[in-house]
Amino acid sequence: MSAALLAAAQAAAAHAHAPYSHFRVGAAVRADGRLFTGCNVENASYGLTICAERTAIFAAVAAGARRIEAIALACVDAAADAAPGLLMPCGACRQVMAEFAGPDLPVTIAGFGTISLGALLPHAFRLPPGETP
Ligand code: THU
Repeated sequence: MSAALLAAAQAAAAHAHAPYSHFRVGAAVRADGRLFTGCNVENASYGLTICAERTAIFAAVAAGARRIEAIALACVDAAADAAPGLLMPCGACRQVMAEFAGPDLPVTIAGFGTISLGALLPHAFRLPPGETP
């Protein structure tokens, strides 16, 4: 249920390491009926920062999951009147979602609503299964 997933994402943001942007993000993934959470983890070498969605997805994969059933994210430091773009998952995270889910994946975004991965990332890059180009 997306309300529970969203609550888990909001709670996970408390663990964010965001001393540079002060923009804490939490994410929660349901996979194989289990819940995995993540937060953004920044680095003094800025480009090494990883987003909350990817830490949650990678936690699920590291635990053995391969199909993601739902994901939620919460940018808890965004102002109540923030432009929608500030609340949305970045392009890199959308591509990582596409690795482990199809276009019907429900993506629940705090302050925005639920939207499918296919709507967020049409024409995702995909390799044929078991093949290299
Ligand atoms: N961030 C995420 O965690 N997820 C996104 O989809 C977009 C951005 C983080 C990365 C960085 O720590 C902070 O938000 C500001 O860009």
